[in-house]
Amino acid sequence: MISNAIESDAFVFFGATGDLAHKKIFPALYAMVHRGTLNVPIIGMARAGWTLDALRERARDSVQAAGDFEPECFAKLSALLHYVDGDYADPETYAQLKRELGFARRPIHYLAIPPSLFGSVVQGLARSGCAQHARVIVEKPFGRDLASAQELDRTLHEVFDESSIFRIDHYLGKEAVQNLLYFRFANTFLEPIWNRNYVRDIQITMAEKFGVQGRGGFYEEVGAIRDVVQNHLLQVIALLAMDAPTGHEAQAMQNEKLRLFRAMRPLNPKEVIRGQFRGYRDEKGVAKDSQVETFAALRLHIDTWRWADVPFYIRTGKCLPISATEVTVNLKRPPLSIFDADTTMPTNYFRLRLSPEVVIGAGALVKQNGEEMRGEPVELIARHHSQTEKSPYERLLGDAIRGDTSLFTQDDSVEAAWRVVDPVLTDPLPVVEYEPGSWGPRAASAVVDGGEGWHNPGIEHTQPC
Ligand code: BG6
Repeated sequence: MISNAIESDAFVFFGATGDLAHKKIFPALYAMVHRGTLNVPIIGMARAGWTLDALRERARDSVQAAGDFEPECFAKLSALLHYVDGDYADPETYAQLKRELGFARRPIHYLAIPPSLFGSVVQGLARSGCAQHARVIVEKPFGRDLASAQELDRTLHEVFDESSIFRIDHYLGKEAVQNLLYFRFANTFLEPIWNRNYVRDIQITMAEKFGVQGRGGFYEEVGAIRDVVQNHLLQVIALLAMDAPTGHEAQAMQNEKLRLFRAMRPLNPKEVIRGQFRGYRDEKGVAKDSQVETFAALRLHIDTWRWADVPFYIRTGKCLPISATEVTVNLKRPPLSIFDADTTMPTNYFRLRLSPEVVIGAGALVKQNGEEMRGEPVELIARHHSQTEKSPYERLLGDAIRGDTSLFTQDDSVEAAWRVVDPVLTDPLPVVEYEPGSWGPRAASAVVDGGEGWHNPGIEHTQPC
């Protein structure tokens, strides 16, 4: 949805000296400048005692670390940069921001800062007049649970209306996630089988080979369920399971997603395994007796006519054998086995690999050469290409600047997603230790009921087309 379809005329980001700015925001801004789609003042905000030159250096370092670096293009980005150093609780900080905004009348403010600071920043923006005709971008995780998400929504809504709030979940900006939606709704052959009559179960594994990468302090506050399940993975499930929207406008899509989120049954703690890799407690910023999960495997139920009794299995973890995110939609067996008496033959499936490659595969059985009617599994690759598109941050920040809300999460869906995970956050069972490099605690295998167990994503061998 384009809220009044007018482009923002200044980009302000709070937390300019922080980690997110370095890893994601500067490279995205640089890419936009490179593409010629960004030419407005960029104002970095922080309380770090920095100067504009220091911020420019930081931006240079970030862009160089991210890869492509063209000095002329960086010079353009550098010329757009401004910097305001000040306490977020001090009205003078916002008075200075107002001066830096100059003739800009419709700024967009990106809050790349901890949610505990949102209140003072949005109030500071409002009192100084910087929130007028403005938009605001906020990062995930949006809150720590349902109650804190509702509190954050109240804080933001005091100043911004919902159509001006852009909640980032960078998964929604990924090409592969967009492709998933396209594959479902641009084809007719899926719809007749995309339901409880043909689908046995749906699995998603988001595996990461690395640990918490020096983010122990952050991770201790979050854990895998808050970090990626409540947001990235439930969003992917929503796109996989929702009904087709009845209209082209972004709100039609949001409405269907919301219906789906509301049909997700709150998790049953008995259907959740939380794990922690051995060595996590030795990370900087991590408690010696930490009970924070670095792994989660769970069974989710969606109470709709389409999905009743179809389990959705979700698994994610740090320090697993590979970095890959993959969905498998497993179909039921044919009603009678005519050829292969061997029931260990795999069932038909769709495999949607979301990262690091983008692949859609369909698993089928074909006859082996020879006299006997014996089969062998093959996989038909429907689509495969390497990820050379815009980064999710480039795409999402560009959309927010243009006022396009399509790929952002709404207050009601975010709250519905918290309602799903809340039962396992309030009184969780102790974490189970697992070896780094393994597929998590052994107990996780019991989460998958019947079928062929968890599907472990492997190294992709198909070549890009
Ligand atoms: C982030 C999480 O939101 O997503 C990280 O905080 C996680 O813990 C990351 O590693 C994964 O995203 P991507 O795009 O790198 O796969």
